[in-house]
Amino acid sequence: MNIDKKLLDKYNVPTPRYTSYPPANFFTSDFKPQDAVNAIKKSNNLKPENISFYLHIPFCSRLCYYCGCNTHITGNRNIINNYVDTLKKEILIYKKLLSPRRKISQIHWGGGTPDYLDINQIKDIMNIFYDNFDFIENAEKAMECHPAHLTYEYKDALAQLGFNRLSIGIQDFNETVLKNVNRALPALPVEDSVKYLHKKGISVNLDFVYGLPGQTIESFSETIRKAVNINPDRLALFSYAHVPWVKPHQKLLEKYNLPDAELKTSLFQTAFNILTESNYVSIGLDHFAKTDDELYTALKNRELGRNFQGYCTRETTGQVYALGVSGISQLENAFLQNTKNLKQYSDSINNEILPFEKAYFLNENEKITGHIIAEIMSNRYISLADTEKKFNISYDDIIKITGLDFDVLKTFEKEKLIEINGKEISVTHQGMFFLRNIAAAFDPLTEQSEKKFSKSL
Ligand SMILES: C[S@@+](CC[C@H](N)C(=O)[O-])C[C@H]1O[C@@H](n2cnc3c(N)ncnc32)[C@H](O)[C@@H]1O
Ligand code: SF4
Repeated sequence: MNIDKKLLDKYNVPTPRYTSYPPANFFTSDFKPQDAVNAIKKSNNLKPENISFYLHIPFCSRLCYYCGCNTHITGNRNIINNYVDTLKKEILIYKKLLSPRRKISQIHWGGGTPDYLDINQIKDIMNIFYDNFDFIENAEKAMECHPAHLTYEYKDALAQLGFNRLSIGIQDFNETVLKNVNRALPALPVEDSVKYLHKKGISVNLDFVYGLPGQTIESFSETIRKAVNINPDRLALFSYAHVPWVKPHQKLLEKYNLPDAELKTSLFQTAFNILTESNYVSIGLDHFAKTDDELYTALKNRELGRNFQGYCTRETTGQVYALGVSGISQLENAFLQNTKNLKQYSDSINNEILPFEKAYFLNENEKITGHIIAEIMSNRYISLADTEKKFNISYDDIIKITGLDFDVLKTFEKEKLIEINGKEISVTHQGMFFLRNIAAAFDPLTEQSEKKFSKSL
């Protein structure tokens, strides 16, 4: 499928990624710490009842120049050891705040590079969870891994600790592209790693990034064909977010001709076609899964959810409590973000104080807007009639709250990006490429905001 170039030019504008609503750059440091703690206590009585923990490991051995994550490049094991000790204390603070009635449905290790930790450190932390919390059956235990550190012994140990999902950062198989972005190579052939993990019953996701310097349609097609042959359960295709005003090291890539919006879209479309012709279906904005994957079942049933850790099913989605620097807790009523500073983080935890630096407390209208945007971003569909019922409000209320401009919707319809059927709006196949723009039509905040976002394509 080819997308009209005029549409690409028109919609390639700075737009939030909507991993949260409101987006993280609306969070503020103007809040009372006690209000944040109260929000956690209150979350015990709100839905979803399950607990999802996110652990941020902000360390890597080497800087990839495209990186947009929150990480420190260090070989200093003392810094890492102190951090792990602090994380253990943070878990125990949550143990005191969370109701023992609630069960863990998901533990997600992200980073940085969690598999840069010594495996015994992972073991110590997982055992704290096992000793102090109950789990739902088949709770998801997931880790984002850099293949440079994933040895067979490490995989054995992760399997033994109960990990059932690994996400491996590949980005590209092309060594010139990897060299351009200063990325370390995998320790083992990725195909062998994936086979080994599958034998252990571990589901595997592979991450790719398009828009990196040196990528061509030919080279990226080869990468994605290789990925299909490796047969991961899921695959993510991230659009390279170039935000040098936040991540100055990304300027190092400007000496190359970075792929423009047109090439980026062609890279995505080419990969999209290869994947969808090979037993993968597209999930949400940038994920793909096998047709027998629970994410696809959730999409078909319009039950797909989304949090900072990616797409999830309603079963695995709990309110998220984030541990470690920069982590964002995602509760029903509030977002709470930990400090990004390592020293402030450990000082705060050592004083038994949760290290929140920013927060956002949602009012009822923002929850309604957030619901509509999340449905569009996840299920590519919104029923405004269902929204009326869910929040006990009228259609006119929805229009007032979201500031929805019908002319914008009608234009999307004319451009064949959405279909409107009474109060139901469905995103078309072509519209999937413009999900962020469609979601933004329901967002009263972006209009009034001077905040900076990456471009939508
Ligand atoms: C925490 S990393 C994954 C684990 C490990 N650090 C690695 O790189 O393999 C999360 C993922 O974010 C994606 N990513 C990082 N920087 C990005 C950027 N600027 N734009 C788009 N995706 C990015 C990469 O695909 C990466 O695999
Ligand atoms: S992409 Fe991954 S390995 Fe590379 S610097 Fe970022 S977090 Fe570290």
